[in-house]
Amino acid sequence: MKDDSNKRFFGTLPQKELLKLYAKHVNAPKVRFFKSFGLGLIPGKRRGVKFNMLEGLKPSDPPFELYNCHTCGGVYNLGHGYPKIVQVLKDALDSGLDIGDHLQLSEWRAILGKRLAELMPPEITKTTFGVSGGEAVDTAIKFSRAYTKRKKCISAIGGYHGHTGFALATGDSDFKENFLWNLSDFNQVPFGDIDALKKNLSKDVACVILETIPATGGVLIAQEGYFSEVRELCDDFDAMMIIDEVQTGLGRTGHFWAIYGGLYDHEKVIPDFMVLGKGLSAGVYPLSSCSYKPFIEKAVFKDDPFIHISTTGGSDLGCVVAYEMLNIQSKPEFLKHVREMGKLFGKGLEEIKDDNPNLIRDTRGRGLMWGLEFTSETLGQLAMLSIIKEGVLQNYCGNKKDTLIIMPPLIVTKEEIDEIIIRIGEGVKKLKQLI
Ligand SMILES: Cc1ncc(COP(=O)(O)O)c(C=O)c1O
Repeated sequence: MKDDSNKRFFGTLPQKELLKLYAKHVNAPKVRFFKSFGLGLIPGKRRGVKFNMLEGLKPSDPPFELYNCHTCGGVYNLGHGYPKIVQVLKDALDSGLDIGDHLQLSEWRAILGKRLAELMPPEITKTTFGVSGGEAVDTAIKFSRAYTKRKKCISAIGGYHGHTGFALATGDSDFKENFLWNLSDFNQVPFGDIDALKKNLSKDVACVILETIPATGGVLIAQEGYFSEVRELCDDFDAMMIIDEVQTGLGRTGHFWAIYGGLYDHEKVIPDFMVLGKGLSAGVYPLSSCSYKPFIEKAVFKDDPFIHISTTGGSDLGCVVAYEMLNIQSKPEFLKHVREMGKLFGKGLEEIKDDNPNLIRDTRGRGLMWGLEFTSETLGQLAMLSIIKEGVLQNYCGNKKDTLIIMPPLIVTKEEIDEIIIRIGEGVKKLKQLI
């Protein structure tokens, strides 16, 4: 990608100065962390499946180019600057659309709500919008409590649903302890272990919340039947089932929803709540959603329709962008492309694993969401760096550091998959020289 001379948005100041500003006014430990990597430091120009670092480590180095296989957990499902998305946002701004007013009704929330209902698993027809994934998770837990009049929530050990409020309370202690946020009503069980869930369920549990494929937890694939049994158990105890598809939804698995055919073709589970974020933004306008079955509405809004509000959640501009994105990503040929590219990608990773049995223990995934598990946490972290040096951005899973999570943009081509696999293979080969 060529850097042009337009410095209005990229390279406004030399990197050295920007780093000083970031450390002084935003977050000094984060600057130190990235400096210790010995790699490019600040993302610059971006287009399609790739982006450039603003500068090399030294200003004399050429800008470092990376394939974006992190995609911010699915924010960049359509890559960077997808023309139809950029155009619809420009058009909407040009025609005078803005954020809108959260206290009033909204044309675009109505239109997007209907589109989501058409695409959701059956029975999930209502949506409350937010800005971030964490906000949408908070909403689902809040509404579960209002409906069941119970407080308890069960989540998965190693799962991740956000950094604030109820969402934070569902997570591992590492994220919570510093903030004195170990709430006694929130309990965790091992992911995929139906007996553990059964033991912890009772008639005072409001909800069970799970990612369909825990991402931060290590790209874990539950056995077939697990989610059907979770559904049955929730029914037995009148608890709400919340599914977080912030990373796995919108076509990531080659099916529109992981919970509804994306994990196993024939297993189509219908939760009570479905939560989305990240990719709903199409990478350009933040939006999240908490969709649910209609019987829940009355328990939340009956006495006061303004009891749950979000000033910029469900902004008109965000809804326009998401509507365009849904129309692109729900097309059968788009999903077929994800399945085909996913097969190639999975095969490539499997070959890398077979060539390196002492380093790599497992590879697993669905569609274009893959985990590559190394034989130790140290190796996982070193592998991330080694593969970034080969020009492929990915990361180790925060709660399972032996595993890299690799999520190419869904628009990736066969040629790009081939190139990415070569580079990952090269990164793993160089890892051998490091140990
Ligand atoms: C599965 C999952 N749920 C929820 C969230 C929270 O989203 P946000 O960071 O937009 O609050 C994340 C963020 O990484 C996530 O991966």
